[in-house]
Amino acid sequence: MISLNVNGTLYNVNVDAATPLLWVLRDILGLTGTKYGCGIEVCGACTVLIDGQREHSCVFDVSSAAGKKITTIEGLSPDRSHPAQKAWIDHQVPQCGYCQPGMIMACAGAMQAGHHGTEILSEMKHICICGTYQRIKDAVVGL
Ligand code: FES
Ligand code: FES
Repeated sequence: MISLNVNGTLYNVNVDAATPLLWVLRDILGLTGTKYGCGIEVCGACTVLIDGQREHSCVFDVSSAAGKKITTIEGLSPDRSHPAQKAWIDHQVPQCGYCQPGMIMACAGAMQAGHHGTEILSEMKHICICGTYQRIKDAVVGL
């Protein structure tokens, strides 16, 4: 049994220790905001915060997340009031939306690390198949 703190709630999950955190979040806890894109740390769709650090949950063993504070898009704020969420809404960033939770979590993690504007942007190497890059840039430069 592995104990996880996700968005401030404690869960006990009975899974293999090497299971990627992504599948525990989505398939066991029902937190489907975190997405699967590539599975090889390229696209960023699966990004969550673990003790405030940006991590790719597609390759992060669930056992390594035990005892740490995991934040997903569902727990970033109770009412979409995180500055990154507000900037995304103000700039109407998403198209299909699939990549956007990972984008927002990466942005939030960079902000938490004390970065601003173009510094944040330079750290976001995520893939958006819809090509929303210009609107992401517009949203991030003001943060
Ligand atoms: S699904 Fe994890 S980086 Fe693409
Ligand atoms: S908004 Fe569709 S993949 Fe980014």
